[in-house]
Amino acid sequence: MNLSSILVNNRICEILGIEHPIIQGGLAYVGNGRLAAAVSEGGGFGQIGSAGRTPEGFEEEILIARQLTKKPLGVNIPIRGYEDTDKYLEIVNKHKRLIQGVSLGGGNPQPLIPQLKAMGLKSLVMTSTVKQAQKVEQIGADIVICEGYEAGGNNGAAELTTLVLVQQVAASVSIPVVAAGGISNGKAMVAVMILGAEGVQMGTRFVATTECEAHENYKNLIVQAKDDDTIIMSRYIGGPRRVLKNDFALRTQAIERETPSVEEILPLLKGGHNKRAAIEGDIENGFMGGGQVSGLIEDVISAEQVVKQVMNEAGNIFRKSNCN
Ligand SMILES: Cc1cc2nc3c(=O)[nH]c(=O)nc-3n(C[C@H](O)[C@H](O)[C@H](O)COP(=O)(O)O)c2cc1C
Repeated sequence: MNLSSILVNNRICEILGIEHPIIQGGLAYVGNGRLAAAVSEGGGFGQIGSAGRTPEGFEEEILIARQLTKKPLGVNIPIRGYEDTDKYLEIVNKHKRLIQGVSLGGGNPQPLIPQLKAMGLKSLVMTSTVKQAQKVEQIGADIVICEGYEAGGNNGAAELTTLVLVQQVAASVSIPVVAAGGISNGKAMVAVMILGAEGVQMGTRFVATTECEAHENYKNLIVQAKDDDTIIMSRYIGGPRRVLKNDFALRTQAIERETPSVEEILPLLKGGHNKRAAIEGDIENGFMGGGQVSGLIEDVISAEQVVKQVMNEAGNIFRKSNCN
């Protein structure tokens, strides 16, 4: 089998019109246009995040990204109440010629996929179980992203890790699979491709880049993080969410464990607390999404360089293993 060819000529590259099957995941608050453009310039698929932005702010970032690159770009829309989602979809529709695909997560994508198809856009859907992935295929998504429990940000309730999830999803669907969660380098990319993925999505690695608008204190925290420096801040109330370990996250976790109360926990999960730490840099008094992979990230470099390094490393591994 010509394994190294799956790095370049695969269905993810074909569907999205990209050179390298590396996707920058939606990043609440910190998935800005400059970052997305840099990923796309590197040959990957950069995505502008809508979470944490007003529809106007989201539109502005799409326009910024499009000024910086002519290569394919995407956007990410977490599915909230449909009314709210509609405002972001309107922006997508208005600028449908500027983007190639939309990734959806956190809700039922069924009503949205036909709308995206009608706009001529590809749909990528986030999943965290085999059942969800099969459903996503059945309702017509172009790409299924399966995200393991190591991942930064909101996690699936089934708590499946990337290693087991990718294999089972790849064996259960025929649309192309992208692996997410725990990937920051070429070794991990090769590993998930051997398991059946045709592409990778990275989140935490792209936060620690020069183009990302995350505060410097947040990026430094990722670089300094060790293997056990992330926690699930809220597991039962509000849904599991993996964040960097800090006072705020530990306090929230303790409340949930010791005196669980919806009234107390839900206000702590509000976006304002995310913004305070992630954008304003008050890293003890708010929360910041971060995956277990933080322990493997050692520098803040440009997003374009991240894409190139990961591809080089993956390509070298395939070559050395005489797989080509
Ligand atoms: C700070 C942060 C914010 C995130 N926000 C979103 C989001 O708004 N929408 C989404 O679909 N995924 C979101 N994710 C998940 C990522 O898109 C990606 O799937 C995940 O980070 C992959 O795992 P990794 O962190 O181990 O690379 C977020 C992840 C992080 C780290």
